[in-house]
Amino acid sequence: MTHVESDRASYYDDPLIYHVLHMHGTRAEARVFERLARRHATNAASGPLRWLEPASGTGRYLHALAQAGHSGVGVDMLAPMNAFAAAEAERLGLAARVRFITAPMERFNVRRAAFDVAINPINSVRHLMTDRALVDHLSCVRRALRSGGVYIVGVEVNPTGMAQPSEDVWKGRVAGLSVHQFVSYVPPEGRSRRETAMSHKTILIGRGAQRKERHIDSVYHLRTYTKSQWESLLQTAGWEVVACYGPTGRAKAFEPIGYCLQVLRPRST
Ligand SMILES: C[S@@+](CC[C@H](N)C(=O)[O-])C[C@H]1O[C@@H](n2cnc3c(N)ncnc32)[C@H](O)[C@@H]1O
Repeated sequence: MTHVESDRASYYDDPLIYHVLHMHGTRAEARVFERLARRHATNAASGPLRWLEPASGTGRYLHALAQAGHSGVGVDMLAPMNAFAAAEAERLGLAARVRFITAPMERFNVRRAAFDVAINPINSVRHLMTDRALVDHLSCVRRALRSGGVYIVGVEVNPTGMAQPSEDVWKGRVAGLSVHQFVSYVPPEGRSRRETAMSHKTILIGRGAQRKERHIDSVYHLRTYTKSQWESLLQTAGWEVVACYGPTGRAKAFEPIGYCLQVLRPRST
C-alpha cells in the first residue's frame, strides 16, 4: 500500500525536487542565453565566456553553460541549493569551471569586472521585494560585469490591476522519483505589489508496495511591476534595456504585459 504524507514547507526547501521539476529544456535555454550574449556583449563573439548567475538555485544553467565550455559563478541565498549545485557540478566533472556562493543577490561580492555576462531568468529578480533591494542588486551586478558586459533578466510586467489569477503545471521525473506541481498565482489587491504564489507538489518516491506519496504545500511572494515601474527603476539604477526576446530567443518589443528576456546594459556615465 502507498504510504502518504502531507507537509507544509518553504518553496525551495528541497533542491532535488526543484531540479527534477525544472531540468527539462535547460540546455536549449542556455543556448538562447549564449546566443544573446554573443550578440550583445562586446568582445564576446567567440571563445569561452565567464558567466554570473544571481539566484542560481540548483545551478542547472551554469552546468549547461560549463558543458558548452564556459565557466561561471552562481550566487544563491540558500546554502542547500548551493551545496546541491556544487555536488552536481562535481558529479558532471565540471567542478573546475563553476562555483556557487551563498549570499543575498542584493548584497554579494564577487571579483570586480570579471564577468562577460550575467543571467537571471524566470522572474527570480521578483523575489526582491523593494525598490532599494533591486537597485542594490543591480549595483552588485554592475560591479561584477566587465566593460561591455550585459545582464539578461527574465521578468514579467503587467499593467496595474490587469493581472488575472493564473495557474501553471510543472512535471518532472528521474529514476524512482516523479514530481507534479500545481502553482496558482493570485495578483495583489489595491496598492499592494505582492503577488502570492501557492504551490502544491505531489511527489511519488519508489515503486510498487514500497512507494511513498508526499504532498507539499508552500506559499511564496513575488513583487509585481508595471512596464513603467520597471523602466523607471532601471533608470534610477543606471541601466538601460538594449533588446527584448521571448523565452526561445525570438526578438520582440518590450510590451506592457507579459514575460520577456531583457538584455540590460549599464548606462555609461
Ligand atoms: C526560481 S529559482 C531560480 C533558480 C535558477 N535560476 C533556475 O532558474 O533554475 C529562484 C532562486 O532564487 C533564490 N533567491 C530568492 N531570493 C533570493 C535573494 N534575495 N538572494 C539570492 N537568492 C535568492 C532562491 O533560493 C532560489 O534558488
